[in-house]
Amino acid sequence: MEIVIRRSVEDIATVVSDAIESLVTKNPAPVLGLATGSSPLPVYKELIRRHKENGLSFADARAFLLDEYVGMAVGHPESYREVIRRELTGQIDIADDAVKSPDGNADDVLAAAIEYDKSIAEAGGVDLQILGIGTDGHIAFNEPGSSLASRTRMKTLTEQTREDNARFFDSIDEVPVHVLTQGLGTILEAKHLVLVAAGAGKAAAVAAMVEGPVSAFCPGSVLQLHPHVTVVIDEAAAADLKLNDYYRRSYDLKPAWQAL
Ligand code: F6R
Repeated sequence: MEIVIRRSVEDIATVVSDAIESLVTKNPAPVLGLATGSSPLPVYKELIRRHKENGLSFADARAFLLDEYVGMAVGHPESYREVIRRELTGQIDIADDAVKSPDGNADDVLAAAIEYDKSIAEAGGVDLQILGIGTDGHIAFNEPGSSLASRTRMKTLTEQTREDNARFFDSIDEVPVHVLTQGLGTILEAKHLVLVAAGAGKAAAVAAMVEGPVSAFCPGSVLQLHPHVTVVIDEAAAADLKLNDYYRRSYDLKPAWQAL
């Protein structure tokens, strides 16, 4: 696990956008894994800028979202399919039908979840997965207690997550209770995992994820089992890391030939 500590969210966006640009320019048909929420927004803004100003093209890319609310009307502005269209995919040249999300409106959501895992595999798997982390340590919507081997399925949000997400709705009562989410086992199949986090509110979750035991109690800690993980965080989110100085030194001393 590589820990990259940057001064600002703009610096985080540059580091992560460089990795995505490198993938998209080298790979003729890249498969991106996209997260929603606030953490990746500076990255998406930077990718849109590179697309508009430098011609960075996503024309042959495909993308899979991590999760979706269950039972939220198609087209609802806070459905993750709409959020990603608004914040990224509608502003770059990726084809709209190349962006997939779990079908939270399916009559049979469990079957839809199984289908979703199948469609990721059929696409050849995710090349680069962007992740955020919840204050309770969740990644995607794998809440504490999630099986470390889980597949895409329905989960119940914790009240803490519903409160954290209430900022996107008029009241907490509107925040759905159920979601379809890629499982931890599904996420671990992506080739490169890039987690972004910023702010003091994420410090405890980041420390538990990076330096705590691998445990279903902190679902993010499962990333310790993946061979290629990059955690890109600001100083506030890094504040509780015991080996903070070591991570900074390692990044500063990283040979120029070694990519993320
Ligand atoms: C959203 C997702 C969630 C968020 C997490 C952090 O697709 O997968 O795990 O990444 O809830 O959310 P923010 O970034 O809003 O703090």
